[in-house]
Amino acid sequence: MLSFEEDFGAVAAQQPARAVAAALDPAQATAAVSARAVAGEPATARRVSADDKRIINGQTDVNQLVPFKYEWAWKKYLDACANHWMPQEIQMSRDIALWKDPNGLTDDERRLVKRNLGFFVTADSLAANNIVLGTYRHITAPECRQYLLRQAFEEAIHTHAYQYIVESLGLDESEVFNAYHEVASIRAKDEFLIPFIDTLTNPEFRTGTPEADQKLLKSLIVFACIMEGLFFYVGFVQILALGRQNKMTGAAEQYQYILRDESMHCNFGIDLINTVKAENPHLWTPAFREEIRQLMNTAVELEYRYAEDTMPRGVLGLNAPMFKEYLRYISNRRCQQIGIEPLFAGANNPFPWMSEMIDLKKERNFFEARVIEYQTGGALSWE
Ligand SMILES: [Fe+2]
Ligand SMILES: [Fe+2]
Repeated sequence: MLSFEEDFGAVAAQQPARAVAAALDPAQATAAVSARAVAGEPATARRVSADDKRIINGQTDVNQLVPFKYEWAWKKYLDACANHWMPQEIQMSRDIALWKDPNGLTDDERRLVKRNLGFFVTADSLAANNIVLGTYRHITAPECRQYLLRQAFEEAIHTHAYQYIVESLGLDESEVFNAYHEVASIRAKDEFLIPFIDTLTNPEFRTGTPEADQKLLKSLIVFACIMEGLFFYVGFVQILALGRQNKMTGAAEQYQYILRDESMHCNFGIDLINTVKAENPHLWTPAFREEIRQLMNTAVELEYRYAEDTMPRGVLGLNAPMFKEYLRYISNRRCQQIGIEPLFAGANNPFPWMSEMIDLKKERNFFEARVIEYQTGGALSWE
């Protein structure tokens, strides 16, 4: 059986937790030794100073949340907790009736729902694995790690929500969950992402050199600005557009909560990226920035192909060309947010109503009354 004691027990028995963390990372261990030599005292014995904290390659104790340095990360953690929701809070009976009614939805609308879920049912598992097995290890600010832990749980809730919709509608689970292998437009998006996830989840990967730190920064950008910030948006618009036409209102409400979470993930990622940039300006070279622009350009093309595939004809008053403009608009916004020159001058937002969806407050409900009698830990029995 795999256990912490079996894997790391020998190290843990000899050294405090801070030193264990360094022992797991040779680059950090080397830096920690030289810091001790300079200070003339064991690094583990010193109290943490906020000034010494760093987002990457930090040498302070990752177990000490305070003193805070990155207040924005702590605030986002608190905000995310305040937004907590669970999929079973949301009434799905109208969706089920509509889906089962042979005249309830057109063939194009059904295709759209299935292709939409085909991307999302596995996307949030990719996101969770990227955080837990990759990003988390390389971030040395405990405030940011605290947010990442919350974010990882939210990704689990999102996967739960998509599974709950698939199960509620009685869709062919193997068709939907295998879409990322079997549907070319979905597979192409995932194949674009996977090398960047592999970089961070590779157990051999270490930060601490300019090359490695640029790889980490690139993966953070791809993840926040392209995956969560662009690849989710065709899908969000589609289901929310259904909801605005009073169709699939339960699924649309689930997507509203997911959109709210994802926009916070994206904003956290952008703050993280901009802080890494500020702390490590040598990483932000012209060649690096150009590489990001090229990645963004490819991502817009891939997401547009997905829009065409999910909507081969116009549906719900939407059509694929409207999404070309929207994706260009979002891509420009993401570039601006991290200080990259936008690619598509003059692109406008054809879906201004999406902004109000992103700003959803939990107590508001655009479609129908939420079921509030769900159990939060209420299944416990003390008898
Ligand atoms: Fe998610
Ligand atoms: Fe996310």
